[in-house]
This record gives sequence, structure tokens and C-alpha cells, in this order.
Amino acid sequence: MYTELKKLSERPKVFSVYTADTLWTDPHLANQMLQTHLSQDTALASRPIEAIDRVVDWIERSFGLDGASVCDLGCGPGLYANRYAKRGAIVHGLDFSCNSIDYARTHAPSNAGPVTYLVADYLKDPLPENQDLVTLIYCDLCPLSAVQRQTLLAKILQALAPGGKFIFDVFSTRAFEGINEGVVFGRNLMGGFWSANDYFAFQHTFRYDHEAVSLDHFTVIEKDRTWDVYNWLKHFSQEEIQRELKQAGFGSIEFTEGFGVDCSDETTFGVVASA
Ligand SMILES: C[S@@+](CC[C@H](N)C(=O)[O-])C[C@H]1O[C@@H](n2cnc3c(N)ncnc32)[C@H](O)[C@@H]1O
Repeated sequence: MYTELKKLSERPKVFSVYTADTLWTDPHLANQMLQTHLSQDTALASRPIEAIDRVVDWIERSFGLDGASVCDLGCGPGLYANRYAKRGAIVHGLDFSCNSIDYARTHAPSNAGPVTYLVADYLKDPLPENQDLVTLIYCDLCPLSAVQRQTLLAKILQALAPGGKFIFDVFSTRAFEGINEGVVFGRNLMGGFWSANDYFAFQHTFRYDHEAVSLDHFTVIEKDRTWDVYNWLKHFSQEEIQRELKQAGFGSIEFTEGFGVDCSDETTFGVVASA
């Protein structure tokens, strides 16, 4: 047991494993994530509806939505995309969770701009072209490695119409300051989140100070299988995000406090980038 415990508490190399697809697409987890998106008691997967309304107001005020082509990447259950459509945008919502896309489709507004939902992986699949706005909201660049971030940024730049804007937010280095290393162990940890079966689970939290990356490594031990989920989060300074956007070919970069969301704790910041 000592050898096994030693192995599962080892610090992996930064961004050496990618399991985000398990987290969002395993049937039990996808359902848990959908409930987490929709819950107004936790902001783990989506912001509360009131904050989402303020973000959409801010985007409409700043860029206009009526008649605009808008692509929401990682749209989840369509909380933003359906609101863009209600304000007259021609919307594409893209996510690799079938469960979330099903929910988004069934809740698409009638008498609104057209919404096309696509089950797709934004790292691998083609993105809709000629978009006036591309949004990637709730810090979804942060779970990606440097190589994955460059892949995605280059694809987004390609997807923008002339003058189009890429609107996104990221976790800040201030948020990184608040992360502590540690380990939590429990039976049916997180209230049965990880499996419908009985299980034991470890959560090892690591900091990678040099890279400003954190990792929550979950090991889930069920009767018949043991499996792992690695939740990486890169935290950015404004200089770093600027460097990465420039490297991907973006020319104009502006920072915003948070698209109308209260960011006074400075744990996230918003960015608007264009060619
Ligand atoms: C933190 S949630 C945010 C969802 C939505 N933007 C919101 O704020 O309500 C991240 C979303 O991105 C999706 N996602 C993560 N990686 C993806 C990928 N490579 N391709 C497509 N969707 C992805 C997940 O399925 C999930 O719905």
C-alpha cells in the first residue's frame, strides 16, 4: 500500500496529462457537470445567471449583438449563446459535451436569431468562419497547455471576420496566490460527484510556482477500477497573455476588468483581442 500511495501522491510534470475530455464527457460526470452549470448555489462551472446577464449586456453595449455572427466556444448548456440569440445574433455554440449541447438545443429561444449547436472539440475540429465575435468565457483557456493554447488562439484568429473580436477571461496570478498544496481523502468525496457507485477518492493539490500553474489531481477508486482526473489551471499576468496573443498573431489587445462582472478581488480579468 505504501508504494501505491507514494505513486499516487507524486507530482506530475506540468501539463503532462490531459483528462478534460473525461471530466466533461463521461456520462455520469457530464450529467454532474450539467447540474453544476445550472446550479445557482455554486459558481464552479458557470457564473450565476445574474452575472451572465451582466456579461451579455456588456458585450451588447460594447460591440452590438443584433445581426452579428457570434461563436461561443465551450458554450456548455447555452447560457450565453441563447442570450446572444435573444438579442438578434446569428449564433454558433460549440462544446464537446453532448449532454450540455442537448440542454442548450432544447432551451434555444424561439423568435430569436438562429442558433446552431455543434458537438465538437475546439482544439481539433473546424470552427465556424467569418465571426464578428468569438467568446470563450469562464477562464477556459486556463486548463490548456501552452501548445494547446497556441493551437486554439490561432484557430480563433482564423475564425474572425475582418474587424472581429475575441472576448475571453482568464484566472490571474492573484488567484494563484490563494492556492495551497494539500491532500483530501474521503469516501464518496464531493458528495458522490465522481461516480454513481460507492468509491474512495484522493484530491492532491499542487502548485507549480515557476509556471503559475495549479493542479487538482483526483484519483477515484471504485470496486472494479481506479481512474484519474487532472485539472490543470494556468494563471496569467497581463504581460503573459499579451505575449501569447501576439505569438498567435493577434495585433490589438485590450484588458477589461470583467465584462460587467464584479472582479474587485482581481482573481480573473477580461481580454478583448483582434487581428
Ligand atoms: C467552465 S465550463 C464554461 C461553460 C460556459 N462558457 C459557461 O460559462 O457557462 C467549460 C466548458 O467548455 C467545454 N470544453 C472544454 N474543453 C473543450 C474542448 N476542447 N472543446 C469543446 N468544448 C470544451 C466543457 O464541456 C464545458 O462546457
